[in-house]
Amino acid sequence: MSQWPDTRILDLLGIELPIIQAPMAGATGSAMVIEASNAGGLGSMPAAMLSVEQLREELTIIGQHSQRPFNVNFFCHQPPVADELRARQWKQLLEPYYRELGVDVEAPTPVSNRAPFDAAACAVVEEFRPKVVSFHFGLPEKSLLDRVKATGAKVLSSATTVDEAIWLQQHGCDAIIAMGYEAGGHRGMFLSEDLSSQVGTLALVPQVVDAVSVPVIAAGGIGDARGIAAAFALGASAVQLGTAYLFTPQAKVSASHYRALRTAKDSDTAITNIFTGRPARGIINRVMRELGPICPQAPAFPLAGGALLPLRAQGEADFSNLWAGQAVHLGIELPTGELTRRLAAQALTLITRR
Ligand SMILES: Cc1cc2nc3c(=O)[nH]c(=O)nc-3n(C[C@H](O)[C@H](O)[C@H](O)COP(=O)(O)O)c2cc1C
Repeated sequence: MSQWPDTRILDLLGIELPIIQAPMAGATGSAMVIEASNAGGLGSMPAAMLSVEQLREELTIIGQHSQRPFNVNFFCHQPPVADELRARQWKQLLEPYYRELGVDVEAPTPVSNRAPFDAAACAVVEEFRPKVVSFHFGLPEKSLLDRVKATGAKVLSSATTVDEAIWLQQHGCDAIIAMGYEAGGHRGMFLSEDLSSQVGTLALVPQVVDAVSVPVIAAGGIGDARGIAAAFALGASAVQLGTAYLFTPQAKVSASHYRALRTAKDSDTAITNIFTGRPARGIINRVMRELGPICPQAPAFPLAGGALLPLRAQGEADFSNLWAGQAVHLGIELPTGELTRRLAAQALTLITRR
């Protein structure tokens, strides 16, 4: 019998440990998912930066190495309307960097690749039938969501406010990820664009728990077992950790991202829209310092990223997104499976200590 004080997520998702390895587009591949799920947690495969073919390949590998439940995660933003004027102004703003690095500013701007959930992605879900499907930026349109639910998948999505949590419950979510302001990566916000009123994890989790009847998963700034025990004290039924898993050998991070992760302290991250057009938390680097962190000229999500891609090739650390949350300094280097088991064992000790 489970020793965890709240087993709702364990029962709902069919997992042993209430620890979700967060989906991290660009940084999580099948290797991380397999280890997290085989350790008894929930591995999460992000799909936002993969083609349908690449996603199928990753899911095939997961199926070959794990029989445990896992999650597939999708972005569900509205595709942007092309705005040539804004694109031109954005490139003009970046032009001094192009000149400094000797990059051809006249070359066509590459397209940044964050795809929203669509019928083709839905067909992959129907084919592979993952036990869990999670979304970021709300939920997809009803006909697609109905198809996902018809596979039997449990559906999760991120809420950054109580209003978003209530909306997600009303629209069919089986559990809510309460994503505090501390979290690394893109804010899941979808009912509001007001960054200044975004809520921290300590305040968000208990208020979401009070407002919805489905189980709540705490995310954002949880860096070790103390954070997990605190999340349970706030009424969470599970936790989702992203930044902590960036330190595992399974994380696909560049050498400069990894160096930044290892040296960052609590106040070294900020929320920026520069890299994609949508607010996301990352380690402060040169382009964030000089143009932002919030820049009104940045094109709509995900278009802002395109014009930065040629600069990255020359100045990786200065022009790449170095996503990380505020608990980055708590990160330790351990393989994904070992990290998952250790976090669970230490948190359980704290939770059951009298
Ligand atoms: C590198 C990185 C990439 C992320 N990409 C995604 C993503 O593709 N989909 C998603 O739902 N959340 C994404 N997130 C958010 C995480 O799923 C999670 O909610 C967050 O990392 C929790 O906060 P923490 O980083 O403080 O642990 C990302 C976070 C990071 C750090």
